[in-house]
Amino acid sequence: MPPRGSTETPRVGVIVVAAGSGSRLGQPEPKAFVDLQGRPILEHALLPVFGLSVAAQVVVVAPVAQLGEARAMALEVAGVAAGYVTVVAGGATRQASVAAGIAVLEPGIRVVLVHDAARAFTPTHLFETVIAAVEASGSGVIPGLPVADTIKRAVDGIAVATVDRSELVAVQTPQGFPRQPLADAYATAIAEHTDDAALYAAAGHPVIVVPGDPLAFKITTPWDLRRAEALASAAPDAAPGSARTGVGMDVHAFDESSELWLGGLHWPGEVGLAGHSDGDALSHAICDALLSAAGLGDLGERFGTADERFANAHGAVFIAETVRLVSEAGYAIGNVAAQVVANRPKLAARRDELQRTLSSLVGAPVSVAATTSDGLGFTGRGEGVAVIATALLRPLPPQVRL
Ligand code: CTP
Ligand code: MG
Repeated sequence: MPPRGSTETPRVGVIVVAAGSGSRLGQPEPKAFVDLQGRPILEHALLPVFGLSVAAQVVVVAPVAQLGEARAMALEVAGVAAGYVTVVAGGATRQASVAAGIAVLEPGIRVVLVHDAARAFTPTHLFETVIAAVEASGSGVIPGLPVADTIKRAVDGIAVATVDRSELVAVQTPQGFPRQPLADAYATAIAEHTDDAALYAAAGHPVIVVPGDPLAFKITTPWDLRRAEALASAAPDAAPGSARTGVGMDVHAFDESSELWLGGLHWPGEVGLAGHSDGDALSHAICDALLSAAGLGDLGERFGTADERFANAHGAVFIAETVRLVSEAGYAIGNVAAQVVANRPKLAARRDELQRTLSSLVGAPVSVAATTSDGLGFTGRGEGVAVIATALLRPLPPQVRL
C-alpha cells in the first residue's frame, strides 16, 4: 500500500463526475460548485477521496467553464497527493462525462471507482469497501441500501401492484469495476444507462452489491441541500480551516539483551530498547502525536500496560490501532514528521525504507529526520533513544448517522 504522495504508480482510479448542471437544484452555478456551509459541494466530495489510505489517481470531471476552478480546488484538497490529480471536461450526459474520465486514466490503473460529486458526504470507508470488494471478486461492485418505503407500481394514478421490497436496493456511488472490462463496456455502449453498473451489466458482466451508507445520499433537490447544510453545521469541526496539529515524544533506554525495533523495522546487529512493548520509541512518538492532534489523550491512556493486546506488541500494532481511533474520531491524516535523537542506529542508510514503511502504516506521508545531541545528556552518553513527532489532521465531513 504505497503512501499518498509517493511516486509509485497508483492501481486505483477514482473518477468524480461533477460536470452536471444541477437543473433540479435550480441554482445559477453548476451543482458541484454550489456553496455548502462555506465550501463548494465538490470540495466536500473530494475530502474523503483524499483520505484514502491507498494511492489513487483522482480524476475530476468538470464543466468546461469551471475547469480552472475545479483544478485549483482539487489541488488544494489533494495537498501532497497533488501529483495524482487529473481534471477533464465533461460531456452532455453523465455517461459521456464518465467516458471522458475513463479516457484519462493512467496505464497502471486496475480498479476504477466512479463517484457522483453530488454525494458530498460519502465516507472514506465506503470507497475502501468498494475497492476491496472489486479486488476480491473481480466483479462490478455497487453500494446499496435497503428500501424503507413500500413501493407500488402506479398507472395513471391507480396503484396496480405492490413490489416485493425485500428484493430492492437503492443504489449509490462509488461504483467500482475492474478497469479493462469497464473501459470496453463504455467503448461499445450504444444505449444511455442510468448508472455505470447498468452499462457494465448490459455488456454481460456480473455486479455485486455491498452495504451502502446513508451519508452517501445524493444532493439533487433544494430539500437535499438543506439536509446537507444541517448535517455540515451539526459538525462544527468540519468547518474549513480547522486542521489540527499534535505533538508526541517518547524515550526508551538501550537494553543489551534485546533486539532493536524502531519505526516498525527490525535492525539486526543494533542494541535493542527496553520497554513493556518492543520499545519502538519512534512508533510510540508517532502514535502520541496522532492521538494528541485528535484530542484523544496519549498512548499510556489508550493502550495501558494492563491491556494484554499490547504486551510485547510491535510498533506497527500500536500505529494500526491509533490510525483506526483517529479515523473513527472523524479525521484524515495529512502527514507526520518525526525526529530521532540518538547516537545509534544511524538512520541514513535505511531512511527511505523507514519512511516507506511508516507511511504505509499511517496511510499518509511520514518523514523521519535524525540528529545526535552533540554528546550532551542521556542520548549523548548513548543511554537511549528519544523521538519527537508531530502530526497534522484534517477533519472529515460529518460522520453523523442519519
Ligand atoms: N454529471 C456529469 N455530467 C453530466 C451530468 C451529470 O458529470 N453531463 C454528474 C453530476 O455533476 C453529478 C452526478 O453526475 O455529480 C449525478 O448526476 P445528477 O445528480 O443528475 O446531477 P445533475 O445532472 O447535475 O443534476 P440534474 O439532473 O438535476 O440536472
Ligand atoms: Mg442529471
